[in-house]
Amino acid sequence: EKEKELIRGSWESLGKNKVPHGVIMFSRLFELDPELLNLFYHKTKCSSSQDCLSSPVFVEHVTKVMLVIDAAVSNLDDLPSLEDFLLNLGRKHQAVGVNTQSFAVVGEALLYMLQCSLGHAYTAPLQQAWLNMYSIVVAAMSRGWAK
Ligand code: HEM
Repeated sequence: EKEKELIRGSWESLGKNKVPHGVIMFSRLFELDPELLNLFYHKTKCSSSQDCLSSPVFVEHVTKVMLVIDAAVSNLDDLPSLEDFLLNLGRKHQAVGVNTQSFAVVGEALLYMLQCSLGHAYTAPLQQAWLNMYSIVVAAMSRGWAK
């Protein structure tokens, strides 16, 4: 219960518009693994990664990701209710060429964003709480790769 409060409180403190935080998260992700950019932009011509990051495809995806995290935070008391949705979401990511190993890097990027956005409110217990929730989401998405 303490963990849920930490997650809900910190998510709320990021403010209503989560997109800028998502942009921090995905900028970090592409810094950690630039190859992932290709999964979005193989059809688009970007002269620089900065160019790619400000493109509508990127911002739209960030918006979608933030909505999924928002759904997870809102359903902390009943994460299994998201199971089917997340499995399907995993399938879609398998189809666009994402590897399940990349989710570890996404997790790092998520923590990086929280650290940037929360400042001194970012604590070890808070980090653990987010990791626990994130691992449940990733486990559900990863089932989309199973045959
Ligand atoms: C769709 C890539 C992680 C949520 C997509 C698409 C691509 C993509 C290429 C299809 C085009 C589009 O709709 O923009 C990636 C990559 C990721 C990643 C490279 C990191 C390795 C995530 C995560 C979430 C997420 C962590 C949420 C927790 C979504 C959603 C869609 C989507 C909701 C739309 C699915 C639909 O059309 O129903 N992603 N994604 N993605 N992604 Fe991701």
